[in-house]
Amino acid sequence: MKRLDGKSALITGSARGIGRTFAQAYIREGATVAIADINLERAEATARELGAGAYAVCMDVTDQSSIDAAVAAVVANAGKLDILVNNAALFDLAPIVEISRESFDRLFSINVAGTLFTLQAAARQMIAQGHGGKIINMASQAGRRGEPLVAVYCATKAAVISLTQSAGLNLIKQGINVNAIAPGVVDGEHWDGVDALFAQYENRPLGEKKRLVSQEVPFGRMATAEDLVGMAVFLASAESDYVVAQTYNVDGGNWMS
Ligand SMILES: NC(=O)c1ccc[n+]([C@@H]2O[C@H](COP(=O)([O-])OP(=O)(O)OC[C@H]3O[C@@H](n4cnc5c(N)ncnc54)[C@H](O)[C@@H]3O)[C@@H](O)[C@H]2O)c1
Repeated sequence: MKRLDGKSALITGSARGIGRTFAQAYIREGATVAIADINLERAEATARELGAGAYAVCMDVTDQSSIDAAVAAVVANAGKLDILVNNAALFDLAPIVEISRESFDRLFSINVAGTLFTLQAAARQMIAQGHGGKIINMASQAGRRGEPLVAVYCATKAAVISLTQSAGLNLIKQGINVNAIAPGVVDGEHWDGVDALFAQYENRPLGEKKRLVSQEVPFGRMATAEDLVGMAVFLASAESDYVVAQTYNVDGGNWMS
């Protein structure tokens, strides 16, 4: 018996990166997974690559009708929704005196409102089904403390940790576990973008920030998305039934809380 046998999962932002790796792991464990992303073309390619058990869904987490349609698509495809991973997010970087309202609104719209209202739509569906469910929010070490150039992203991830606590407490009586994962630095296309932004604002050659943050991780290197899979499967499985409203650091020792 696999750990997610017969489960139906929706993972936002899973066309690439961490979400894609989680989708692959959930399928390995017996689940059917909606590869839900704003980039439909890439979601379709990913679903094809992952094979049986994966299907693509077009979803913009900033748009309520798109959230509702994505949940409906999961129910139409798999008959139910058991697991949601709120993974889609955007990063930006600027000194305090240069932060724009546009960047603030965009990041809060995707990272915070997107997380809350996707969680809400999934919870409504899970309550209607009557068998509980699992909701996993992607937080970050950025939500544990501020960073001089990363004020807005850090604030969005602190909000994700807080929403996880409130939603976790509110929904556990309906058998829905809400928990979060706080990764440290995870190698991939996302961090290539982060590195390019730091190169611009800290006047560094490309790749240097990545090298520096890797050296600072107590474990000795950046994470790969695969390093997060154990926690992602645990929080989606029955093994975590008694785990409520928590955020787990999976960061090679960067942060202790
Ligand atoms: N990579 C890291 O170092 C790191 C560290 C800590 C936390 N995280 C968090 O982990 C999660 C995944 O990170 P990643 O590195 O895989 O990111 P990524 O940028 O590689 O992937 C994000 C995905 O989200 C999609 N997306 C963007 N806006 C969307 C929207 N409005 N609606 C639906 N989908 C949308 C993108 O198309 C992309 O496929 C994020 O929540 C991120 O904040 C990442």
